[in-house]
Amino acid sequence: MQFSFENTTRIHFGEGQIATLAKDIPKDKKILVTYGGGSIKKNGVYDQVVTALAEHQWGEFGGIEANPQYDTLMKAVEMIKAEGFDYLLAVGGGSVVDGTKFLSVAAKYEGEDPWDILAKGKISEGAMPLSCVLTLPATGSESNTAAVVSRGSDKLFFHDNRVRPEIAVLDPKVTLTLSERQVANGVVDAFVHVLEQYLTYPVNAKVQDRFCEGLLLTLKEEGPKALATPEDMEVRSNVMWAATMALNGLIGVGVPQDWVTHMIGHELTGFYDVDHGRSLSIVLPAVMKVRREQKKGKILQFGERVFNITEGSDVERIDATIEATVAFFKEMKVPVSLADIEQGPEAVETVLESLNIHGREGMGERGDIGQAELRAILAAAL
Ligand code: NZQ
Ligand code: ZN
Repeated sequence: MQFSFENTTRIHFGEGQIATLAKDIPKDKKILVTYGGGSIKKNGVYDQVVTALAEHQWGEFGGIEANPQYDTLMKAVEMIKAEGFDYLLAVGGGSVVDGTKFLSVAAKYEGEDPWDILAKGKISEGAMPLSCVLTLPATGSESNTAAVVSRGSDKLFFHDNRVRPEIAVLDPKVTLTLSERQVANGVVDAFVHVLEQYLTYPVNAKVQDRFCEGLLLTLKEEGPKALATPEDMEVRSNVMWAATMALNGLIGVGVPQDWVTHMIGHELTGFYDVDHGRSLSIVLPAVMKVRREQKKGKILQFGERVFNITEGSDVERIDATIEATVAFFKEMKVPVSLADIEQGPEAVETVLESLNIHGREGMGERGDIGQAELRAILAAAL
């Protein structure tokens, strides 16, 4: 496939790199620092940002939730307009970065209802520049163009080049205060990001395939270590860089992509408040089961190159690869079925109806996943 590739985010990786913001963000900007529920105030990240911005003019907006809420973000939009901020610095996980991406375009939105940015993909001309200090390796939001925002049970996304962060500081040390649950969620999210771009059908894209396999092997090896030896900075560093590379655009160029696991997962989060990474570990094995024929070539390749599954018939190898994927998720202590989050057949109906309302038809790498197949996937996730 033809493709054009650029990723313009300047990344500062490593311990102490928050200090680079002092010189990297122009001094003439009035910065709004955005953050979540307060983790950055407990772990010293906020203090490092304050030190770095000592010579800048800045204000702050805290309280952006996990799975950032539209109503909260609109309060920040009012503040930006009232106080004349012209630069955004997100300090937090994917939710804070995504919410801040929404602020970047919502503050410049000229239409009636800024929710249309998400519901209808409407974006006006302007966008505020933004940068971020990432505190949770998972989403890749720190150097990509996507953002996911929720309003009640509606969890929607938009993509726009203008919201790609200018600068992303990735200091693995700041991830040491993450809970075991958030570490696991992040590893699983990144793992599934790779699979959404890899587990499709073969197109002889050797570079992309081998980048993907490198990332999958890294996450498979380092993920359990991040739980077992949480103080290990080398492990944290490898996890953090893998998560960024998993969704910065590089591995997805020129290849078919799936994303059906994410679209179903977002509905599960919207209705049942399940963390993003955990929604994916519930859905992905079911997608592999239902789509085993369409994905046969790549499931066999994934099994062989990532899990070393080389023996048996194709059917046996595919079964073994699905089992190995589930075993990895269990090792990461995340749920692997709807039953694991105490949901049953009624969830299948709720999610199907909502996918329908959100117009999620013709999904998957071949655009051939309709209602019947979505039902089969959800049933397989029970
Ligand atoms: O809010 P605070 O107090 O900061 O606490 C957060 C939050 O409770 C905490 N946390 C973050 N860094 C920490 C920390 N706690 C201690 N120490 C630290 N260093 O972790 C909790 C979860 O944070 P959140 O930002 O919600 O997690 P994540 O990074 O997994 O982001 C999830 C959101 O990103 C979206 C998801 O749908 C979800 O809304 N995604 C965004 C994508 C993108 N922009 O490309 C792609 C993904 O597929 C995903 O959909
Ligand atoms: Zn994800």
